[in-house]
Amino acid sequence: MEKIFILDTTLRDGEQTPGVALSADEKLKIAKALEKLRVDAIEAGFPASSSGDFDAVKLVAGEIEYSTVVALARTVPDDIEKAGQALERAKKARIHTFIATSPVHMQYKLKKTSDEVLKIAVEAIKLAMEYTDEVEFSPEDASRSEIPFLLEIIHAVVEAGARVINIPDTVGYSTPDEFASLVEKVKDCVSCMDNVRVSVHCHNDLGMAVANSLAAAKKGARQIECTVNGIGERAGNAALEEIVMAIKTREDFFNYYTEINTKQIYPVSRLVSHLTGIPVQPNKAIVGKNAFRHQAGIHQDGILKKTTTYEIITPSSIGLEQSELVMGKLSGRHAFKDRLSTLGFTLEGEELENCFDAFKKLSEKKKEVFDEDLILIVEEHTVRIPQVFILDYIHTVTGNKILPTATVRIRKGDKLYQEAACGDGPIDAAYKAIDRICKLELSLLDYSIQAVTRGKDALGEVTVKVKRGDNLVSGRGSSTDIIEASAKAYINAINRFLYRYVKEKEYESYTG
Ligand code: KIV
Ligand code: ZN
Repeated sequence: MEKIFILDTTLRDGEQTPGVALSADEKLKIAKALEKLRVDAIEAGFPASSSGDFDAVKLVAGEIEYSTVVALARTVPDDIEKAGQALERAKKARIHTFIATSPVHMQYKLKKTSDEVLKIAVEAIKLAMEYTDEVEFSPEDASRSEIPFLLEIIHAVVEAGARVINIPDTVGYSTPDEFASLVEKVKDCVSCMDNVRVSVHCHNDLGMAVANSLAAAKKGARQIECTVNGIGERAGNAALEEIVMAIKTREDFFNYYTEINTKQIYPVSRLVSHLTGIPVQPNKAIVGKNAFRHQAGIHQDGILKKTTTYEIITPSSIGLEQSELVMGKLSGRHAFKDRLSTLGFTLEGEELENCFDAFKKLSEKKKEVFDEDLILIVEEHTVRIPQVFILDYIHTVTGNKILPTATVRIRKGDKLYQEAACGDGPIDAAYKAIDRICKLELSLLDYSIQAVTRGKDALGEVTVKVKRGDNLVSGRGSSTDIIEASAKAYINAINRFLYRYVKEKEYESYTG
């Protein structure tokens, strides 16, 4: 069996999802989870795009040992130098440089001839090789490029030293047969050169990103670029979990393997969803809430008789253990830590204490504490976003014949602030009261709620998206009480907004 290398670009292309902006700390958290997942390469960001991204790539590069850390750069000297600098401390580093090769991109976006593009690409590879041993090249919009020019530029960059040739279907335009045949031509073009790996990077505009990637693998692609939960620019990228589980489940057909520790798929999916604020659709393959649920009576009957009647993969193979009653009020710290470690979280010190306290509080309110509850606790209590505002108390009055009102008390430092407001419903009233205390004038763009576990006392998880000017952030909160979860999510978004977008002077007026 041949190996398929997995390059995860959640932290770069995934971060290009509208509304997603990860802090350096959050990127590091995801990078560590990806390393545990055993991805071969982590594309950590685009250092020249902002000083924040430069710092994030630098932070990730200094901490990751197993996976190659990749930094994206246009074929512009300044981009390449920044990528090289950000990767300085990486154990294994790669610069990934790209320039568009399709007629429409070259003529209208770059305003350059194909000869000029080829020359720029070769120079960029030579410069990148001064910084890292491994250099990857992408002819952007490859699937809409003219094949003779595409092969010519690939040949030239490989001669200049590129060791990974990535074929992007940048706008998700291709179809499996067509894309596979393109990759076959590229493979033939570089086959005379040693150690050149052909890679693919597919977008999902027509819903074919995973199919295109797998078809390309059949014709010689040995690296697949993908993102957790398939997040990314527009309709997203090929989903890592779908690629990996297809290769594993249909080993008989593909005859390939990946190094991925599939038991980490579910925890990583949850973490990415939590930190990006992008919920996973319930019917999403592999990691969706319904992926292992059986509704029809005939299916349930079949599953009870033999699971393989309707289940082609087991929940435990992706780290989704049968939701068990794990612990209750009397469970100790040791058992708690142990269970978290089975779920893929290694916690120590303050983080462990905070999570344990939250677990104790939850077990007072909730009879049954499931694995999903524990995952949510970890997600909520292990990211270091300064908690400028903390919900202390919320009381709402509502009904079909009265004006809904909310009283909210919020802690800021050692002071408590209280406000009341009326609204169109209890949540609207609560948000107005919170706005009066926090004075940030954010507008609420999106609100969604879902039950995380089973039963009437299930934890409700609320996700909100808020905006001020061009800046958008998401927030999440959970509780057995959906109004409290809604208030927590909104306050979480406010704290994230302060952390990311509010300048120090203005920030002091909130923290002061
Ligand atoms: O989609 C694309 O073409 C890209 C390149 C930068 C690889 O993301
Ligand atoms: Zn892309």
